[in-house]
Amino acid sequence: MKQQEQMGRRRSSLNLPEGFLWGVAAASYQVEGATSADGRGTSIWDTFSETPGAVIHGHTGAVSVDQYHRYPEDVRLMRDAGIGSYRFSIAWPRIQPDGSGAFNSKGFDYYKRLIDELHREGIGAAATLYHWDLPQALEDRGGWPNRDTAHRFRDYAAACFGELGDIVDMWITLNEPWCSSVLGYQVGVHAPGSTDRSAAWAAGHHLLLGHGMATEAYRATGLTAPIGITLNLEMPRPATNRSEDIAAADRAADMHTRFFIDPLLGRPYPQRHFDAYPDAVPPPVEAGDMERIAAPIDFLGLNYYFEPVVAAAPVNADNPEGYREVPSHHERTHMDWPIVPRGLYRHLKWVWAHTDGRFPLYITENGCAVRDELTEDGTRCHDPRRVDYLRQHFRAAFDAIEDGVDLRGYFVWSLIDNFEWAFGYTRRFGVVYADYINQRRVPKDSYYYLREVISGHEEV
Ligand code: FCB
Repeated sequence: MKQQEQMGRRRSSLNLPEGFLWGVAAASYQVEGATSADGRGTSIWDTFSETPGAVIHGHTGAVSVDQYHRYPEDVRLMRDAGIGSYRFSIAWPRIQPDGSGAFNSKGFDYYKRLIDELHREGIGAAATLYHWDLPQALEDRGGWPNRDTAHRFRDYAAACFGELGDIVDMWITLNEPWCSSVLGYQVGVHAPGSTDRSAAWAAGHHLLLGHGMATEAYRATGLTAPIGITLNLEMPRPATNRSEDIAAADRAADMHTRFFIDPLLGRPYPQRHFDAYPDAVPPPVEAGDMERIAAPIDFLGLNYYFEPVVAAAPVNADNPEGYREVPSHHERTHMDWPIVPRGLYRHLKWVWAHTDGRFPLYITENGCAVRDELTEDGTRCHDPRRVDYLRQHFRAAFDAIEDGVDLRGYFVWSLIDNFEWAFGYTRRFGVVYADYINQRRVPKDSYYYLREVISGHEEV
């Protein structure tokens, strides 16, 4: 009976906290195109995607869905779905083509046009300052492993606060600094494509330092829109309840999670992780850095896609941390990511406890890649797997709210199919289908589902 009640339990968005924010998310390099328009400088993703072998089929973001020119249509799509906020990112090379020195007013103009259009339709503007498109000129001077980049980021952020501060409704300093540092400088599958662990740690530190300095600069402006950061933490699930697997899962969270969240809370970096790699150089922390990184924020943004499973493994030179990922029974998306909605519940509860509930939380990204196809007549796209994915994840998030987590909003990744980094255009995450040949946008079933959830007509 109890089980039946549980299974039958359904929630509608009408039960959500007052003011719950429903949004969709995207990032400049993934959707804007127009990479040489109006004085935009070159970013590390332009360079990387033009490097043979770096991105599937040699795809680049040069055109993508051309949101730079077609934003009114995308804003209308958001309006028609009842979306409350658009999380977009500002392309640093549009604002400051060389990453230092002169600012480009035409770059600011684009974001003013976009935000005006959003506001005209009653949609809030959630601006991310850095979603991976570092000006190439800064990479040429050492990129994020170079401390100076943190100072350059502070200056760029301050200029954005000055020009856009009266119209942006919510600021996010960085998107997923784990990806910028580890995928960009250690694994090498993201721009700039380096493979150096010490560089990744230095990059991670300077990203966080840049975040802290930008946050301090923001406070000095007296602006009042909330400011926060978006992290993609990972708390792997131990494969079994054996203590070795529990300990292995805990170690696996050192770089992905503790490195990024603990300094925001005024806690040190996970020394245990650095000790595991004695040949690498720990992050170059200078006096006062950790205090700056811990500059108070107004919320924490979380991107959640899946929860891996980890088991203990023998410690050796190739595996000094002694853990390995193991398979699970979960169905997988087109990214080969397991679909683990309960992991989102666990994740929210873990973050809430780990942060002592000191910041409200937002899910700033969640969604899935599906092999979507248009119907023969080209007017519809049936994506029942995405509808299921979203429904189950919404439910997990609502359960967390019910169990005391202060979750204030949920941004679905993404409004429209786009350039999925090293996967180019081969992975579709949108609730709107992009026909890249003629730039036609076709809402998928998941778009209509999202509209119904937001309006409160569809049960979750
Ligand atoms: C996240 C990124 C976002 C998008 C999704 C699928 O890691 O922040 O840009 O690529 O994954």
